[in-house]
Amino acid sequence: MATDDSQGRQHQVIGITGVTGMLGCALAEMFTERGYQVLGLVRSAPADKPAYRHITGDLTDAQSLALFVAQIDVCVHLAAQVSHGGRQQYKSVNIDGTQKLCDAIRSYNPACRLVNCSSIAALRFNPALPFLATPYARSKFYANRIVERYRRQFDLRTVTISPGLIYGPGDERFLPAVIRRLKQGSVTLVSGGERHAPLIYIDDLAELFFLAATDSRAVGEDYIGVRSETLGIHEFIRQLARQVGAEEPRRILPKSVVFPPALMMEWIYRLSGRGKEPPLSKRAVDILSINFKQTSGDANKRLDWQPAIGMEEGLRRYLDWARERGISA
Ligand SMILES: NC(=O)c1ccc[n+]([C@@H]2O[C@H](COP(=O)([O-])OP(=O)(O)OC[C@H]3O[C@@H](n4cnc5c(N)ncnc54)[C@H](OP(=O)(O)O)[C@@H]3O)[C@@H](O)[C@H]2O)c1
Repeated sequence: MATDDSQGRQHQVIGITGVTGMLGCALAEMFTERGYQVLGLVRSAPADKPAYRHITGDLTDAQSLALFVAQIDVCVHLAAQVSHGGRQQYKSVNIDGTQKLCDAIRSYNPACRLVNCSSIAALRFNPALPFLATPYARSKFYANRIVERYRRQFDLRTVTISPGLIYGPGDERFLPAVIRRLKQGSVTLVSGGERHAPLIYIDDLAELFFLAATDSRAVGEDYIGVRSETLGIHEFIRQLARQVGAEEPRRILPKSVVFPPALMMEWIYRLSGRGKEPPLSKRAVDILSINFKQTSGDANKRLDWQPAIGMEEGLRRYLDWARERGISA
């Protein structure tokens, strides 16, 4: 493995934006355990004193980004508006924030490697049909374009990782919500999700981020952070149901039936100014019907990255973690 010299590890500072999020917490712990210094960019100081240093800043604030990037060797850029938000939030954080970060690196620390966290949502986004996609997918697509432009025009040392659906310890949002609905018997599957679930267990993804940040072979490459599964998202949900003792959902509705009302409900919620995600959303339909086969197979081989954890084992580990922490679903 062409990993950078282990003697130099203690002197390598890994900057992480979004360090307080689900993936950020996992990466901060991993880099710290492996002897790297971590500097997190946080909007407000974490309640429990973390094992890493942090500075206060925001992706929307160029000055704080300048201070942040000046102190790091690698910038793992995770911060994003991920959960439901307004269009303007997706734009100002995910698109304009990424632009400000690239600009700060270019101006204040051009040798810094940027590990850009995208999403398979961006790879599936079709700019000719933007209304079919979520504003999140759109924002990640245009954020990628910015990173590519800085790579091309200004020789920024970038690596882009597009994870699939991340699951595992640390998730206090997505799986607990699915489990709750499974227990209420209110999960309906959507056609399309019978095969090829683009899932990634968080520890496997963390290994990819580690290599992207420390291995010189990763610079200039793009990776798709998924474990190739022939099983679909339906089977994932059924396995989850079995493991939590809930009834397996049997009803499958055609996507053509559920997508139009989801679109309409989103418009109604937006026009009426309700800040919440509607009970039937494009995002939910998309997750339940997703079928994604693309991989970055050759790039993965060159980097010796091979995700190991399958869905049954991953769910078992997640549930052990959730039970230990008393996370009820
Ligand atoms: N979760 C998934 O399944 C998934 C799948 C594909 C890609 N991804 C990508 O993976 C990355 C991490 O996702 P996650 O699930 O860990 O997200 P998350 O738990 O929602 O965390 C988001 C992080 O971004 C920070 N953040 C939000 N707005 C910010 C701003 N204006 N300035 C600075 N920080 C800001 C949040 O800080 P606060 O604590 O202050 O809110 C938090 O640390 C994201 O880029 C996401 O697009 C996630």
